[in-house]
Amino acid sequence: MDFWAEQAQRLHWDVRWSEVLDNSGAPYAKWFTGGRLNVARNCVDRHVEAGFGDQVAIHWVGEPGDTRDITYAQLRDEVCRAANALASLGVRAGDRVAIQLPMIPEAIVAMLACARLGAPHSVVFGGFSPSALRSRVDDAEAKVVITADGQYRRGKAVPVKAGVDEALAGSAVEKVVVVRRTGTPVSMGERDVWWHELVDPQPAAHTAEAFDSEHPLFILYTSGTTGKPKGILHTSGGYLTQVAYTHAAVFDHRPGEDVYWCTADIGWITGHSYIVYGPLANRATQVVYEGTPNTPHEGRHWEIVQRYGVSIYYTAPTLIRTFMKWGEDIPARYDLSSLRVLGSVGEPINPEAWRWYREHIGAGKAPIVDTWWQTETGAIMIAPSPGAAEFKPGSAQTPVPGISAVVVDDAGKEVAPGESGYLVLDRPWPSMLRGVWGDDARFRETYWSRFAGAYFAGDGARYDEDGDIWLLGRVDDVMNVSGHRISTAEVESALVSHPAVAEAAVVGAADPTTGQGIVAFVIPRGVAEVSVQELREHVAREIGPIAKPRQIMVVPELPKTRSGKIMRRLLRDVAENREIGDVTTLADSSVMAQISGRVVQ
Ligand code: PRX
Repeated sequence: MDFWAEQAQRLHWDVRWSEVLDNSGAPYAKWFTGGRLNVARNCVDRHVEAGFGDQVAIHWVGEPGDTRDITYAQLRDEVCRAANALASLGVRAGDRVAIQLPMIPEAIVAMLACARLGAPHSVVFGGFSPSALRSRVDDAEAKVVITADGQYRRGKAVPVKAGVDEALAGSAVEKVVVVRRTGTPVSMGERDVWWHELVDPQPAAHTAEAFDSEHPLFILYTSGTTGKPKGILHTSGGYLTQVAYTHAAVFDHRPGEDVYWCTADIGWITGHSYIVYGPLANRATQVVYEGTPNTPHEGRHWEIVQRYGVSIYYTAPTLIRTFMKWGEDIPARYDLSSLRVLGSVGEPINPEAWRWYREHIGAGKAPIVDTWWQTETGAIMIAPSPGAAEFKPGSAQTPVPGISAVVVDDAGKEVAPGESGYLVLDRPWPSMLRGVWGDDARFRETYWSRFAGAYFAGDGARYDEDGDIWLLGRVDDVMNVSGHRISTAEVESALVSHPAVAEAAVVGAADPTTGQGIVAFVIPRGVAEVSVQELREHVAREIGPIAKPRQIMVVPELPKTRSGKIMRRLLRDVAENREIGDVTTLADSSVMAQISGRVVQ
């Protein structure tokens, strides 16, 4: 506990805590009880007060090429104006605010303004469909939604507000604040207000209240094994302590010297913890890039690294594999000598991608920190130290100091070196989730019922002979597509909501670029002709383009056990073009022959 008390000194506390950890209400832990702080002040104001107001906080790069450099002093003024603006709309501590914005500075400002007011934000990824936005807004009972007129995607301005209008028709949301980004025409209704008209005239001073260490900071929805995403709840003091500590320790970040760049989107936990809260609490200077990595050309990231002298670069294996496909001659055209630490997150990094990353981006010498963590863990849990004696391509290696992670067998007993099992976290950690929003039963059931007293991560893992940890992917029905979590049940329920589909089964199949690809098997309703293209579009409309199946196979039957459970293992064999495994437990053993006979690639 002394360890975490020491890490908490990284922050400014208005009132010091009386106890580091109170786990008497387990699995709901309380960290730094009695302590009070304001998260936004910790991320912005205190750096200005310490004399760093002129330091650039954000080098922002828009997709069309426009740029903005925002200093900590300017960021403070903007956050204060936005906090005053939200307060003028009636937002009070405890009210929820939903945010669906592209990667523009206002996204970060909006999150910090919410934090400043103690109003938990719920950021919804820009690629999610109107119906996905609506279900999240309703579940969190958001009072205000912050969005934009449009966003740039692959060189084109695409509408955003129109989708939000569709999502919020008939909802209880009181106000919609709209940032003007693309100039896309929008219709402004009675509850709509422009960000610039609301925020710009506000005073740049705002007195921040100190909130309890356990005050809710945000809700972030993530996919589970059922069709309904879970609202993962994070609170203030413990979360900020661990994101600040890990951002400093895992990346060896040095404020005032490094230029840091995390390529995630703020719609995911990586963006929350390693673009907004961790780096800003640590007074980082960072790059934030709005667009796609190949707009207008495939060297865009390296051009940005060269221009700003990026020294720490944190991305996902799926993007590294995409860069590999584009060819090493592209990064070779740029001066990447400023890079000294490289990070990876989102899925296991295959050794080939690891080596390419090290060789062609890290000049053969930059350490690569492969960071394992989850929306639920809030912050990095397992990662090699950047000064590690030996790196193992493909292994996240060891829990970071302060964290305990073990690999156990079915009975919850730790496995021996060389063996595999399930990854569990057997001690509480400061940035751990504080529940599933509005669903205590699901929280206990999903994470705490499998192994007594330990958190079940849902990942398989293995110890090597040295006791280092290798992650092996999910052991539940959650897929990992380009580092995004998508549940098979969610895609299945989107498919069966289409009138031409009677039944659907979805599996994640190995994919050389995206890690896993979504493969769906559908039984048509009656004799109706099913257009596979139409079904893919339907899923994109229901959930978002990230959930579009890579492949849809129309089949006469699905393989089921006698109790009616779909045997995904067999479908995965088909999807991955493998010989089909044991079919003896099927209710009808001829089904697999029918399915494989019908498969057209
Ligand atoms: O399966 C693990 C995989 O991503 C899951 C968590 O997804 P999400 O909550 O969306 O957060 C992603 C970003 C933190 C995990 O259960 N995962 C994440 N990082 C790694 C990983 N698998 C292997 N190695 C990693 N470094």
